[in-house]
Amino acid sequence: MGGSTSANVVLGVGGGIAAYKACLLLRLLTEAGHQVTVVPTAAALRFVGAPTWEALSGRPVSDSVWQDVYDVPHVRLGQRADLVVVAPATADLLARAANGIADDLLTTTLLTARCPVLMAPAMHTEMWLHPATQANVATLRARGVLVLDPAEGRLTGADSGPGRLPEPEQLYAACLPHLPSSSHPTAASAVSEPGAVGVPGPLAGRRVVVSAGGTREALDPVRFLGNRSSGKQGYALAEVAAALGAEVTLVSANVYLPAPTGVELVKVESALQMLAAMTAASESADVVVMAAAVADFRPARYVDTKIKKTHDPDDPDAAPTITLVRNPDILATLVADRAKRAAGTLSGSSMTPATPLIVGFAAETGDASGDVLDHARAKLTRKGCDLLVANQVGSDLVFGQDVTTVHILAPDGSVQRGAPGSKHDAARQIWAAVAQRLGERPGL
Ligand code: CTP
Repeated sequence: MGGSTSANVVLGVGGGIAAYKACLLLRLLTEAGHQVTVVPTAAALRFVGAPTWEALSGRPVSDSVWQDVYDVPHVRLGQRADLVVVAPATADLLARAANGIADDLLTTTLLTARCPVLMAPAMHTEMWLHPATQANVATLRARGVLVLDPAEGRLTGADSGPGRLPEPEQLYAACLPHLPSSSHPTAASAVSEPGAVGVPGPLAGRRVVVSAGGTREALDPVRFLGNRSSGKQGYALAEVAAALGAEVTLVSANVYLPAPTGVELVKVESALQMLAAMTAASESADVVVMAAAVADFRPARYVDTKIKKTHDPDDPDAAPTITLVRNPDILATLVADRAKRAAGTLSGSSMTPATPLIVGFAAETGDASGDVLDHARAKLTRKGCDLLVANQVGSDLVFGQDVTTVHILAPDGSVQRGAPGSKHDAARQIWAAVAQRLGERPGL
């Protein structure tokens, strides 16, 4: 691949229902300027047909070694590839690859490739955990094949567990360290440095800041007030933005998810820390998304030693009273800071006045006074942001779940209603709405 910024990528596709996700991965790779040859197995073509792969890749597609034999494709494709990525890799495909079987174009390509090979398994949990599959994965890894762990979550049917194909943006991020370094971070710098700078895409050249997770408000060194936010939506937003070409800062509060590749990660714990990190990162941002669940209140007093029970026999049930004070509203503060910056009055700001587009979230349950959208509309007005993403929460809805439904509200009263989907689907919907707004605001 030399000094070029584009690579020859072979996208192998196994015969699993997750083959549809490989279409989006293909899109991300071609939009970044890479030449992608899709090599499906015969079974993969039963899920997604050759015309789809050909139209999306702009190249002929075959699963057979008997087509265009004069060009010796079963050898040529592997030899010329800079990266082979197989998604989804089924149990059968892993077994054939581990045993060196070469009975179709994809498996011959795997034997002739001398470049990095990345395989993303996807199958039902039982098949993934079976000792035969685990032994095949161990064999492939011992040979230097990069076999990703499958994601956990909803599988083809109603069941869930490990075996899900990671989202296209996560697969793309896993490819990044093996693609030309002039447009992507190296493996070593992938986590700490802003990522896919220079990658063409709807957010190319944009600096975006996303908050994620839930803040914790400390009572003493061992206790805190917290909330149930998993951070999944914020992390999905960061991953999708990076894949769309943005330079991403992710301000993360208490999230136990792997750091997204190619994203600058800033870890915070409390609302006050998040306010400081978001204020600093937002000054030079084009877009700010407040996806975090910020505690509205914090204990008025932090006790710097562990609060102990009293042992008074006359008052065995004695318990301390915790007084709370209001936390700042970070979203509203960012909107107000922007207005002050625009008016050139924000003292102490040495940055060029920036005008980030500001997106808020509204986690609502709906109640007697109105439904989710009624509350979201009121919140949009109250907070003064440019877009508000509303979703319904409850003890079993959204928090920590993989399926969500978001509606995007704008100050002009328009509502873009979403359908149930993954948090990455929601992130794509949100960034599409943001990209549209950015296009309408050429000054940004
Ligand atoms: N938010 C914030 N700072 C806070 C509270 C919330 O920046 N102290 C942000 C959230 O990140 C989200 C939006 O404001 O983008 C709405 O959060 P939500 O918890 O739904 O609303 P609240 O402001 O807490 O309003 P209410 O308690 O009335 O529902």
